[in-house]
Amino acid sequence: MNVDVNPGFGSSPMAAVPPDIQQIGIIGAGQMGSGIAHVCALAGLSVTVVDVKPDALSKALATISRNMDRQVNRSVISSDARDAALMQIHTATEFSALGTADLVIEAATEKEDVKRSIYKALTPSLKPECLIASNTSSISITRLGASTDRAEKFIGMHFMNPVPVMKLVEVIRGIATDEPTFQAVQTLAHKLGKITAVSEDFPAFIVNRILVPMINEAVYALYEGVGSVTAIDTSMKLGANHPMGPLELGDFIGLDTCLSIMQVLYEGLSDSKYRPCPLLVKYVEAGWLGRKSGRGFYDYTHSPPRPTR
Ligand SMILES: NC(=O)c1ccc[n+]([C@@H]2O[C@H](COP(=O)([O-])OP(=O)(O)OC[C@H]3O[C@@H](n4cnc5c(N)ncnc54)[C@H](O)[C@@H]3O)[C@@H](O)[C@H]2O)c1
Repeated sequence: MNVDVNPGFGSSPMAAVPPDIQQIGIIGAGQMGSGIAHVCALAGLSVTVVDVKPDALSKALATISRNMDRQVNRSVISSDARDAALMQIHTATEFSALGTADLVIEAATEKEDVKRSIYKALTPSLKPECLIASNTSSISITRLGASTDRAEKFIGMHFMNPVPVMKLVEVIRGIATDEPTFQAVQTLAHKLGKITAVSEDFPAFIVNRILVPMINEAVYALYEGVGSVTAIDTSMKLGANHPMGPLELGDFIGLDTCLSIMQVLYEGLSDSKYRPCPLLVKYVEAGWLGRKSGRGFYDYTHSPPRPTR
């Protein structure tokens, strides 16, 4: 299913045949990169994950294996499917490993300068017809695409966390993205069992335009003493029927990622309503990034996690 409310730029009845995608490169072996590798491998695609940190790669492989075991235990997949998928995943620390990729999905840290320097180093290793998708949560696809040698083959493919569980992929065309690229990415998303929604290229697209300001507002409520961590999360879980409280969700996403998204909204839309909460800034400055660093609005060294305020 595709929820395309606005076909936007690049729709042409004369569009060329979209390229077939069999080999996928993934840049960034964090929580998103490992989730994307997981679903691509289960769909029978060959996957190479590249990260600058070798330990991030070994951690990603362990996470994928553990999450697939969980799916086997719940009879979501067979053990044969798990074994075949794990064989499809390769890792590397150099972009030269992506020379045969049909599509590279970049899922590195949410910082524009990091992504730009990745594309600069990456593109000389790619075959000319290789597509590039960014999993960015907020940054302009048009601007990122323009920093590559192939803006027409560049697109936003925004997976949700955790990737094996969440059904949605937002697809975002930059102004230069061509129709075959758009069609190829839509086809791939459907092959992965996902439902796509098309967003225009505005800061933070659809999901995070709505979700992350809510998390930021929850941090303001904490900062101003409206309620404790527990009171705020309990209120939204039981009062608004959200499966996770907003502070718990911020920790799950990563507070650095939430802050980067608020900065993109604040600067991109020039509206003070998107001002990042100073307490969110302070947590990120302290390295308290949420689950991935062991501490955020909760301390994850305790079971169950203990509120930190
Ligand atoms: N966390 C979420 O809930 C979520 C949801 C959707 C999209 N995203 C987006 O996905 C991307 C990754 O987010 P994440 O949560 O997985 O982050 P993360 O911090 O878990 O992982 C980022 C990874 O990128 C790697 N990296 C950094 N620089 C690199 C480079 N030059 N070359 C190769 N690898 C490099 C890091 O070593 C790290 O392993 C971001 O753009 C983020 O906005 C995140």
